[in-house]
Amino acid sequence: MKALVLAGGAGTRLRPITHTSAKQLVPVANKAVLFYGLESLAEAGITDVGMIVGDTAAEIEEAVGDGSEFGLKVTYIPQDKPLGLAHAVLIARDYLGDDDFVMYLGDNFIVGGITGLVEEFRRNRPDAQILLTRVADPRAFGVAELDASGQVIGLEEKPDRPKSDLALVGVYLFTPVIHEAVRAIEPSWRGELEITHAIQHLIDTRADVRSTVIQGYWKDTGNVGDMLEVNRTVLEGLPRRIDGDVDDASETIGRVVVEAGARVVNSRIVGPVVIGSGTVVDNSYVGPFTSIAENCRITDSELEFSIVLRDSSILGVGRIEASLIGRHVEVTPAPSVPSAHRFVLGDHSKVQIHS
Ligand code: G1P
Repeated sequence: MKALVLAGGAGTRLRPITHTSAKQLVPVANKAVLFYGLESLAEAGITDVGMIVGDTAAEIEEAVGDGSEFGLKVTYIPQDKPLGLAHAVLIARDYLGDDDFVMYLGDNFIVGGITGLVEEFRRNRPDAQILLTRVADPRAFGVAELDASGQVIGLEEKPDRPKSDLALVGVYLFTPVIHEAVRAIEPSWRGELEITHAIQHLIDTRADVRSTVIQGYWKDTGNVGDMLEVNRTVLEGLPRRIDGDVDDASETIGRVVVEAGARVVNSRIVGPVVIGSGTVVDNSYVGPFTSIAENCRITDSELEFSIVLRDSSILGVGRIEASLIGRHVEVTPAPSVPSAHRFVLGDHSKVQIHS
């Protein structure tokens, strides 16, 4: 069994973070979302991975390399334009050959991995198996309709009026029959060859399409709140580990990870918190559910329930909560007169001022 991992696409829903970074590399608890996916494939006993890459190919290749760090053998398959998930299957035809495969969307996050699902698929070997999850607003997803016995009877891509709250999760298990289906469909209104339509084609031609409803799922829906939430879930499971320097004037409470090369000086850290290597937290408070990436400076400040990406500084600004801060960002106090806020904000930034 092989895997086809999709790591192209523009990531418009996570702007401005994705203006400068591939959406699959957005970190959760200081680790790229994509890496959790790759780890769960390796855990499920899969080694051969075809990785579909687009405009951000260089960045993805730099991060993943040949895959050996994950115990995988990664082959890159360039997709010139984001023409859809079914198009990705189409261009991976030679790579996939006649093997069964897992298609894994690199921006999807599944708590607890996929080992059980892969085993179930191997045992029963239906033509296709899809994963579903209940979501609050299904209009941002593919949506499944099930009959009373739980059989999938219809799928729609991002419907205005969803027939259920069961969204298609971005992990699909296929036998080679999917190759005929992706050749049989036409592009959708958004100009993409939709995998949802290819699976509908399988249903229409009476193929055996099964579904499993899962819990513990996240995908970028453009909502920073969702991201903070998935960060919280992952941090809650991290065992305490202090590899960096914590001075005697500091206190670390509960699930706190201080990576080697990080320094905590005269500060109070209340977990779950992860502090990346090269980061210095000085005379500050860092509260629950906070991830601070590598090479940041947090000085004379308070930070809680937030994500800070690498190379950023937060200096002397009081308390920050529920925030997502990108790379190379500086947050500092303004001069006391005139009493005004001063900004240099990139495109699609969002600021909330307490005044
Ligand atoms: C794609 C699929 C959609 C699925 C979603 C899961 O959407 O088309 O059916 O629910 O992935 O991540 P897209 O990310 O292309 O908007």
